[in-house]
Amino acid sequence: MARILITSAIPYINGIKHLGNLVGSQLPADLYARYNRARGNEVMFICATDEHGTPAELAAAKAGKPVAEYCKDMHAVQSKLADGFRLSFDHYGRSSSERNHKLTQHFAGKLADAGLIEEVSETQVYSNADGRFLPDRYIEGTCPNCGSEDARGDQCENCTKQLDPTDLINPRSAISGSTDLEVRDTKHLYLRQSNLKDKLDDWISSKTDWPVLTTSIAKKWLHDGEGLRDRGITRDLDWGIPVKRGTEDWPGMEGKVFYVWFDAPIEYIAGTAEWADANGKTDADWERWWRTDKGADDVTYVQFMGKDNVPFHTLSFPATIMGSGEPWKLVDYIKSFNYLNYDGGQFSTSKGRGVFMDQALDILPSDYWRWWLLSHAPESSDSEFTWDDFQASVNSDLANVLGNFVSRVTKFCRSKFSEAVPDGPDYGPAEQAVIDALQTRLTAYEGFMEAMEVRKAASELRAIWTLGNEYLQEQAPWSVFKTDEATAAMQIRFALNLIPFYAALSEPFIPDAADALAAAMNTPLAWPNSASEALNLLPAGHAFTVPDITFAKITDDARDEMQAKFAGN
Ligand code: MF3
Ligand code: ZN
Repeated sequence: MARILITSAIPYINGIKHLGNLVGSQLPADLYARYNRARGNEVMFICATDEHGTPAELAAAKAGKPVAEYCKDMHAVQSKLADGFRLSFDHYGRSSSERNHKLTQHFAGKLADAGLIEEVSETQVYSNADGRFLPDRYIEGTCPNCGSEDARGDQCENCTKQLDPTDLINPRSAISGSTDLEVRDTKHLYLRQSNLKDKLDDWISSKTDWPVLTTSIAKKWLHDGEGLRDRGITRDLDWGIPVKRGTEDWPGMEGKVFYVWFDAPIEYIAGTAEWADANGKTDADWERWWRTDKGADDVTYVQFMGKDNVPFHTLSFPATIMGSGEPWKLVDYIKSFNYLNYDGGQFSTSKGRGVFMDQALDILPSDYWRWWLLSHAPESSDSEFTWDDFQASVNSDLANVLGNFVSRVTKFCRSKFSEAVPDGPDYGPAEQAVIDALQTRLTAYEGFMEAMEVRKAASELRAIWTLGNEYLQEQAPWSVFKTDEATAAMQIRFALNLIPFYAALSEPFIPDAADALAAAMNTPLAWPNSASEALNLLPAGHAFTVPDITFAKITDDARDEMQAKFAGN
């Protein structure tokens, strides 16, 4: 039994995620977690909300709530949606947890002890009226390039020009509107990542089995001048993890917090500690996943994320881990994704374009979305959601192929025999041929699942479902029944045995349907050792019920209505 640690990039706390966010990390991570559990491996699957930084502060201000309260509420919202999509996290933590405060401060202390932290003096805009430093995007003013009056300190949204706050004409505070601003000196901590360049380079170079999407991004950052610059890891904000050196105060750093990208990945570890706390476990119980001196040397650690997150996971977070000089577990495999586009453009929160997680669950059960998203995962390139394609996939794969097979077989059995597996002769050559084909595909499916080849695994699963339909079509037990009842009984026995086989294999993709199928067939979900063993699982006389999981087809009218509804304004 292998031990697999799985993390998904932790979603920002502000706002509800769209389907593109979901398929870029959490959903494929869940697929992999479920598959590994089904294979009997010991799995620890951690996700959390990413709660610090200016976007969280701004969103809280907009919602008219104190930021801590806003984050607490939004964590509950995101957590409920994660349940709705059946994301099977062992723990869904919060980067603002006490555990993460302690651990982030601990890492900073270790990095400082190792001489990897530098104090740098900078200038920054201070607002007298607000009594605080203003990060770039808290400063607004007139764009020197296009004259727009709503340019931000980091960029003008109107003409897209990148700006520095000092470029703005008539700068004002985005919080209070005050123009009483001054430039002040402030000190920040920098992580001397450049000192770790060779170590990181060697480490990345040793990862010859990583997807090219992952390593090419890492190499680009390592070698393109811009690359591994030392990185500011503190900010002048109120909301965040107070800067400390371990448990000690850090002179000169009073009132400052760590930068959100410094503490967020540490939450993968802290989240596992939160799991221990929430489940009455000890420190040793979570440390055996993370500390190679405490049992984690046989853990395989896999991370899932969108491509924009790759630099932080291949360079910055490993720099934190390596630089600490402590035996923390480094990632073994990074599975990264391209983007999912929406109907000829991009998802857009501000324009209300595209389907967001809450809306999706209001429209259809999660299995429908899971199946489409995973079978169209943006692996080798960006992919695109269209309502036509969604309708076609649901109607054909789920309704016509899987759903129809199950309902035909179980209903036919109930009407011609009973709600129990019928008897009849042993399987013949036709059945053996299907078993052989299933075995070949089962082996391929397991290979793709292990390799996290999500789309290929989905097409293999679809092909496995199709084999059942083809068998029914060719053997036509409903006509055989008229002349040879015993052979028809055997054929139905064979077809009924396919259902628990399908349920087990489909569970990582469509867990609710899989549970319903297994329940109807009166048998627990169990990964098959082989196709031939699985197809002999249910003996004659085994009682079942006709399941009422049928996948409803999406009508053309419903499709058109949805397309118009989510087109954005
Ligand atoms: N919140 C980030 C995003 O959605 C991901 C953070 S992943 C972690 O892009 F490494 F920081 F944890
Ligand atoms: Zn402009």
